[in-house]
Amino acid sequence: MQSAAPHPAYNYKVVRQFTLMTLFWGVVGMCTGVLIAAQLVWPELNFDTPWLSFGRLRPLHTNLVVFGFAGSAQFAASYYAVQRTCQTRLFSDKLAAFTFWGWQATILIMLVTLPMGLTTTKEYAEIEFTGAVWMAIVWVAYGIVFFTTLTQRKTRHIYVGNWFFGAFILVIAMLHIVNHLSVPVSWFKSYSIYSGATDAMVQWWYGHNAVGFFLTTGFLGMMYYFVPKQVNRPVYSYRLSIVHFWALITLYIWAGPHHLHYTALPDWAQSLGMVMSIILLAPSWGGMVNGMMTLSGAWHLLRTDPILRFLVVSLAFYGMSTFEGPMMAIKTVNALSHYTDWTIGHVHAGALGWVAMITFGSLYHLIPKVFARDGMYSTGMINAHFWLATIGTVLYIASMWVNGITQGLMWRAVNEDGTLTYSFVEALEASHPGFVVRLVGGLCFLAGMLLMALNTWLTLRSKVKVTQHSGEVAHAG
Ligand code: HEM
Ligand code: HEM
Repeated sequence: MQSAAPHPAYNYKVVRQFTLMTLFWGVVGMCTGVLIAAQLVWPELNFDTPWLSFGRLRPLHTNLVVFGFAGSAQFAASYYAVQRTCQTRLFSDKLAAFTFWGWQATILIMLVTLPMGLTTTKEYAEIEFTGAVWMAIVWVAYGIVFFTTLTQRKTRHIYVGNWFFGAFILVIAMLHIVNHLSVPVSWFKSYSIYSGATDAMVQWWYGHNAVGFFLTTGFLGMMYYFVPKQVNRPVYSYRLSIVHFWALITLYIWAGPHHLHYTALPDWAQSLGMVMSIILLAPSWGGMVNGMMTLSGAWHLLRTDPILRFLVVSLAFYGMSTFEGPMMAIKTVNALSHYTDWTIGHVHAGALGWVAMITFGSLYHLIPKVFARDGMYSTGMINAHFWLATIGTVLYIASMWVNGITQGLMWRAVNEDGTLTYSFVEALEASHPGFVVRLVGGLCFLAGMLLMALNTWLTLRSKVKVTQHSGEVAHAG
């Protein structure tokens, strides 16, 4: 691999490192996703080995894709965007390097401990005590690098994308520390300081906002930077972006109880969560419209630019999943959807359609810039990736809708004498075809991810640009 000429003013090294690890954890995390999807089709694939069992690999999958893939992507995008929009170098190369190695060490801890069955059992917060403390230290260092860079900016105002990145960093620190408060009994075993319904409430305050801030707010920061860049136009409405920001962060934090409908949580808290979730539709769609309308007058570019297609389709999936979410938060709808594959379909509409697709679009834009190449090696491969990802996502979510509604209806069907019409196993049998279709969708999505890794590798092998004009190539490839 040839080493790229460093940009004189910016620290692109850490951006390059996070970019490559995004691809790496994307491949590993999605392979794990495909494996557990295959286990639901052929349960024998756990080979009777505890660390290959579904129960251990599932949290491994979620941790690798959420923290490894989506996390590294947000580090890369935020470090890139904050330098460019503030026209200043990242604060402290050493601390930035610490966040890179520290974050990778965190993912390694997950990779080792979760298959061993060491877990707090709190979803998305499974990493046990020592790992969680380490993760908090790295995250605080990230905050210091990001916010100090902002204070050293050469521009007068703070670009809106940085507001989103900043909120993402602050809120995740708060959620992670509060939810992980626990009493350790050994290096990798601890007991939460909360119990009962309080524990559940704190966990889902964390869990929902992990979605809201780790899988949404940072990616909105990405949208505000990369969509205008790729179309070479200013964001549609700056005023709307400010309203979008404040409304989104004010509302998200209240919606957690929709994960605990019909539980021991006080009824008023459940209803509050439901109402706040419905209102959340407004800022979510406001943001989506702002991103989409940035293309006004430039829609024709979609015909020729597959990178832009990734960005726009990701916004369409964002709109779809943030319409579906508020609907599922309505108690009567949740009575049908909860515990079923409908939730899994909703999750991946957001995770594949929104999070992964906006990441792909942004990284295809960024890779040639930070590695000083003229563009990606092959536009045809980006195009093939786009179709594989889109078809994969559609197969995944459509099969899970069918499964979810089938399961919900079969579980609640009762005979005249009040007994259940179907046994659980009958509902599972009815779900089998959907599991097969989901596996095919997952394989398509993974194939696209592998194609991106290959395209990146070929790009790095290609010739380095001799003169690098501050990376203002509007359309890579
Ligand atoms: C090739 C792509 C992928 C495949 C085949 C896949 C497959 C799966 C499977 C089989 C499950 C378990 C479902 C169940 O328990 O019934 C799951 C859960 C999950 N996956 Fe994926 N996944 C993929 C990509 C991703 C990505 C990129 C993300 C996030 C950025 C993600 C986030 C999640 C989350 C958050 C859950 C837990 C859902 C819940 O608890 O409701 N997945 N995935
Ligand atoms: C306005 C926006 C949204 C609302 C109101 C919302 C609402 C919901 C609801 C009601 C559930 C089901 C809870 C249950 O029955 O247990 C859910 C689950 C979930 N949603 Fe959303 N959603 C939104 C957007 C998103 C987006 C954009 C993503 C992904 C990027 C996402 C990821 C998830 C995940 C991972 C879960 C599964 C949590 C779990 O049980 O493990 N959501 N959401």
